[in-house]
Amino acid sequence: MKIFADTANIDEIKRINDLGLLDGVTTNPTIIAREGKDWETVEKEICAIVDGPVSAEVTADDTDGMVTQARELSKWADNIVVKIPMTEAGLKAVNILSKEGIKTNVTLVFSAAQGLLAAKAGATYVSPFLGRLDDIGASGLELVEKLRQIFDIYGYQTEIIAASIRHCQHVEQVALAGCDIATIPGHLIPKLWEHPLTDKGLATFKKDWAEFEQLQKK
Ligand code: G3P
Repeated sequence: MKIFADTANIDEIKRINDLGLLDGVTTNPTIIAREGKDWETVEKEICAIVDGPVSAEVTADDTDGMVTQARELSKWADNIVVKIPMTEAGLKAVNILSKEGIKTNVTLVFSAAQGLLAAKAGATYVSPFLGRLDDIGASGLELVEKLRQIFDIYGYQTEIIAASIRHCQHVEQVALAGCDIATIPGHLIPKLWEHPLTDKGLATFKKDWAEFEQLQKK
């Protein structure tokens, strides 16, 4: 499963990229606003660091506005993917953009029917939101499982990006569900390699080795 960083924080992106673990990045208006920098500058900086797709989201509501903005965003870098909201206007925009060869990521997907329509419209990626579904008592994982099944039955090439990931279990669950990609908040990615028993075990090894070395010297 590919790992994307759901962040526009350059330090977080570099940290994961330096480990060779980063396959892409996703951003949205909230994530960009959080950094407080110029949007185009930040996206271009991310695109230069990451050897993989970087999602930048349109802010227009209507099809014409989305398409115009998407064409502009796609010129920012070769690896830009345009994030389009899951609305009627968004589906129409995805249909137009896919015919122009502009890659799209349909975002704010909360049902399998929405994901199916996004794939039919020609989306390159579809982003079901796990955490936000769990928050309202529904199952984000169930949605990923349904999308996996539907895309496999009909042979859609659209890749599933599990978004709104809140904890390590989400990552393990979507990996087991055959999800193509998990986009994970930058602060959460280190939690995937950290474990208290690893730290405890390492501390014991160090202590025992130090004692052994002392004995050897006597
Ligand atoms: O980028 C889209 C999604 O991952 C946002 O997640 O945590 O705001 O629900 P969240």
